[in-house]
Amino acid sequence: MVELLASWKVIENNTLADLKMNKPLRVALLGLGTVGSGTFNVLKDNASEIERRVGFPIQIKVIADLNTEKARELAGPGVDVLGDAFEAVKRDDIDVVVELIGGYTIAKQLVLAAINAGKHVVTANKALLAVHGDEIFAAAEANNVMVAFEAAVAGGIPVIKSIKEGLAANKIEYVAGIINGTCNFILSEMRDKGLPFLDVLAQAQAFGYAEADPTFDIEGVDAAHKITLLSSLAFGVPVQFDKAYIEGITKLTKEDIQFAEQLGYRVKLLGIAKRTEQGVELRVHPTLIPSKRLIANVEGVMNAVLVKANAVGPTLYYGAGAGSLPTASAVVADLIEIARTSQAPLSSRVPVLAFQKEGVQNLEVLAMDKVVTAFYLRLAVDDRPGVLAEVTRLLADNQISIEAMIQRQATSEKETAEIVLLTHRCVEGDVNKAISRIEALDSVHGPLTRIRVEDLS
Ligand code: HSE
Repeated sequence: MVELLASWKVIENNTLADLKMNKPLRVALLGLGTVGSGTFNVLKDNASEIERRVGFPIQIKVIADLNTEKARELAGPGVDVLGDAFEAVKRDDIDVVVELIGGYTIAKQLVLAAINAGKHVVTANKALLAVHGDEIFAAAEANNVMVAFEAAVAGGIPVIKSIKEGLAANKIEYVAGIINGTCNFILSEMRDKGLPFLDVLAQAQAFGYAEADPTFDIEGVDAAHKITLLSSLAFGVPVQFDKAYIEGITKLTKEDIQFAEQLGYRVKLLGIAKRTEQGVELRVHPTLIPSKRLIANVEGVMNAVLVKANAVGPTLYYGAGAGSLPTASAVVADLIEIARTSQAPLSSRVPVLAFQKEGVQNLEVLAMDKVVTAFYLRLAVDDRPGVLAEVTRLLADNQISIEAMIQRQATSEKETAEIVLLTHRCVEGDVNKAISRIEALDSVHGPLTRIRVEDLS
């Protein structure tokens, strides 16, 4: 009761006049790369607009970066520049630490040090949160500080706040997102220009869209970090990156993209989190989506997240998934949320993962062989009577029904014929069984290509 009265007192005391007299929110910015410098610039350029929204300024007090010379040049007078981020985290004149260094090791130490020193944290580090999120969120709760990470998923698109707040009335059924701009750029170019994967990857690196080491992007790991976070926000489940199924785009061929097109589909790398009666699906893989869906037409480096919820129905969030100012927009929105709500009692804040701690459910993350989707299957076969019948018999034996089919005849250059099949929805475990038996047929050459299909209707 005493605690409740104390809470009311805090709220009553926060009149607008009081807010105006509030001291600025004092920020330490760790890492002055693309997003860090964007954050600095957004806070500077939009300072008066931000103050109109918050009631007091958000002020960068300290910048920590290994390149202190570059940091000094940007910071100008009135901002301390440090080479050691741990020094910045320890300071008493800091309310919020913005971690934009990335990675799991130093970033984790810094985030935990900041939390344990009673500072709020804003981070864009999806890898860190997807792997160590539960530990970090527990530490934040124990220290009564906020951790905000809007910039960690889909860059500038405010999808986290949409799920946490805008969709809070709903039971969310699924989230399906194009959440890696590098992969979406590569797939768009492969389709538009009919180029093979490796050529487009080289082009993406030349444009600076893909990292020098693009493994996390093209192997689907970055998208898996993001969909892991979205699954927790959408369903109120723990952060379980280790249980996500991850398949990247490296094996996709331009032929598959063209066959998909003929069948009325686009190929996208999707992160999917779906709630089913059996548990939660958590997966990243190339996916055929009907071309007529809005999300299938998201091209280039742009991101989009489709959320299907039981009251509102489908909603689609589109925008820049990376880049200096778009990602800074999300970082600064988190700073504004902290400025507005960090004085309020814990119970008045939006929970870090959208659900109250007691409401988190440990739903099973389903193994892929239990997942139900439709499939695109492509196989090279001998062009002689009875081959198609053998293949379809094995599919039928495993309860797999065919929806559409294309056959490309053998030619003087290519001795085998090519069969492309689109199945109805079926259990992945049954498809696996059918595929291994089909691949064992004498009339079938080489491994079968399999891509999952989602209708998203
Ligand atoms: N590398 C990511 C992408 C952006 O290509 O979308 C940062 O998450």
